[in-house]
Amino acid sequence: MALVIDPLKNSQIDWVINFLKSDCPVALPTETVYGLAGRVYAEKSLSQIFALKARPHFDPLIAHVSGIEMARDLCDNIGAIELELMKRFWPGPLTILLKKSDRVPDLCTAASPFVAVRCPAHPVFASILKTLGEPLAAPSANRFQGISPTTYQAVLDELGPFGLEAVVDGGNCQHGIESTVVRFQLATNTLEVLRPGACSSEELQSFCSDLHINFAQAASLLDETQLSSPGQLAKHYSPAKEVMFVSREWIDDEEVFSELEQHQKEPTDCYLFVTDADYQRAVAMGFLDRQHVVLGHDAVEAAANLFATLRSFDANDAYRRLVAFEPSTDGLGIAIADRLRRAAG
Ligand code: TXA
Ligand code: MG
Repeated sequence: MALVIDPLKNSQIDWVINFLKSDCPVALPTETVYGLAGRVYAEKSLSQIFALKARPHFDPLIAHVSGIEMARDLCDNIGAIELELMKRFWPGPLTILLKKSDRVPDLCTAASPFVAVRCPAHPVFASILKTLGEPLAAPSANRFQGISPTTYQAVLDELGPFGLEAVVDGGNCQHGIESTVVRFQLATNTLEVLRPGACSSEELQSFCSDLHINFAQAASLLDETQLSSPGQLAKHYSPAKEVMFVSREWIDDEEVFSELEQHQKEPTDCYLFVTDADYQRAVAMGFLDRQHVVLGHDAVEAAANLFATLRSFDANDAYRRLVAFEPSTDGLGIAIADRLRRAAG
C-alpha cells in the first residue's frame, strides 16, 4: 500500500525529501497533473520511473526546476528568447527545450541533445524543489499511454498496484491538462509547439507578436521513435473503453453523420461535449436527445474536468463507448482536442 503524504505535516515532507535523496520516486502534485518525481542526476531514480510507468526509454522526461538559476544547471547556455519565455511564464505550465549539459543523463532525454525544462507553480512541488536544491524529473504519474491523474486517488489507482511507495496529496490539479512543450528555432524565428497544453498559443503569441508559432507534425504521420517530442504518440490518454472522436466537420461528413444516426438510440453510447457552446452547436443541428456530459462552461473549466471525466466514464458500466465531439479550437480547445483525439487513438 502506497503512503498518502499530508503536505502540511513537516515530518512527512522531510520523509519525502529523504526518500527522493535515496533515489526512490514519489508522486507529487503539480498545477497541471500529478507527476512521478525522481532525481534527474541519479540514473537509478530515472530507471525506477520508467519501470513504474512501463514507459519505453525512447520517451524522454521533463526536468522540473525551482527557477531560472536551477535551469542553468541543466544546460550550458540559455538563449535570449528562452530566457524571456522563462521570465514571462515561469512558474507555470510552459516546458522549454534547451541544449543539455553533460550533467544530464542520456536516460532523461532519450539520448537527445535537448532537455525539456519546466518550473512548476504548485506550492508543494516548488517547496520540495527548493529544499532539495536540485532538479526532479517528473512524467505524469500514470501507466504508459494511460489517463493522466489529476487527484492523488487517481495516482493510487494508476500506480498503486505496480509498487508506488508514496504520493503527496496536493488536492485537485488546477489546470487538469499537461504543460505546453515548446522549442525555439532561431533560424526561422519560430516557436514550435511540440505538445499543446495548459499555456495557450494566444498567451504565447501575446508574449511576442512577431514570433511564428508552429504546431509540430501529427504523430501518426511519423515513426514513433523518431518524433520531435516522442510522447506525442497517436494513442495516449486512453480509457480502456472505446472512444470515438468526431471532428468539427461531422455535420458535413456523410459517413460520420450516418454512423451517429445509426447509433441514435444506442443506450450504451455517452456523448462528450467540451463546453456549453459546443453542446449548443450540436443541439442547433437538431441532432441531440441522448446521454451526454458537458465538461465545463468554458475551455478552462473543461480542461480541469477532462481526465477525471474519462476515468469515471471507464468506471461506469452503463456505457460502452464515448463519442467525443471536437471543441472549437481557440484557447485551451486545441490542447483538449489533442487529448481527445489521442484518447480515441
Ligand atoms: O505538465 C506536465 O508537463 C506534467 C507534469 C507532471 O509536470 N508532466 C508531463 O510529463 O506531462 P510526460 O512525461 O507525461 O510528458 C512529457 C512530454 C512527452 O510528450 C515527451 O515526449 C516530451 O514531453 N519531452 C520530454 N523531454 C523531451 C525532449 N528532450 N525532447 C522532446 N520532447 C520531450
Ligand atoms: Mg504523460
